[in-house]
Amino acid sequence: MTLGLAKRFPRSEIVGIDLTPENVEYARARALRAGHDNVRFCCMPIEELGELPGTFDLVTGSFIPKLIDVQVLAQDLVAKVNPGGVIVIQDFTLPENRFLLRGFNWYWCISSRLLSRSSTWKPSADYLGMIIRQTTWVTDLVRALTVNGFTITCRESQPLQIATVICAEK
Ligand SMILES: C[S@@+](CC[C@H](N)C(=O)[O-])C[C@H]1O[C@@H](n2cnc3c(N)ncnc32)[C@H](O)[C@@H]1O
Repeated sequence: MTLGLAKRFPRSEIVGIDLTPENVEYARARALRAGHDNVRFCCMPIEELGELPGTFDLVTGSFIPKLIDVQVLAQDLVAKVNPGGVIVIQDFTLPENRFLLRGFNWYWCISSRLLSRSSTWKPSADYLGMIIRQTTWVTDLVRALTVNGFTITCRESQPLQIATVICAEK
């Protein structure tokens, strides 16, 4: 996503953040290969966003809010997002529709069985399924952003209700 933004907005300065050094190195190498000179990467927890210099017009994240402390993030965003700035955050959610929920459960059951011989992928798939079932990131993020003065502009379920996008404005 960072590289997509760098390409789409060549005159903007883009900062990509991730906690895992290997992922940051991989992204840096791709940015170098693609010749983007408007992008840099920081290896740090997003909960430390407040310590990064500068402010932003857009803060976006995908497949991350279920893993982080969204209260801390929302508090940091108060100082880091420019007036009129936008937040767009997306992640997996459990379908509310009972037929889609059945499909979701079936999908994870099949995945788990198919991956049962892989000592690498099975624990990851099981862990992800468990996190998606337990996470309350949408409610938590909407509440935390509202409490910190942001206006929620969109709360949209993605196809098959397997993910949700939250947009907010300062
Ligand atoms: C499912 S991946 C999503 C990666 C990317 N956003 C995408 O859409 O392809 C989750 C990423 O979140 C990172 N991560 C987990 N906890 C984090 C945290 N507290 N702060 C920053 N990154 C974190 C992991 O290192 C991992 O690369």
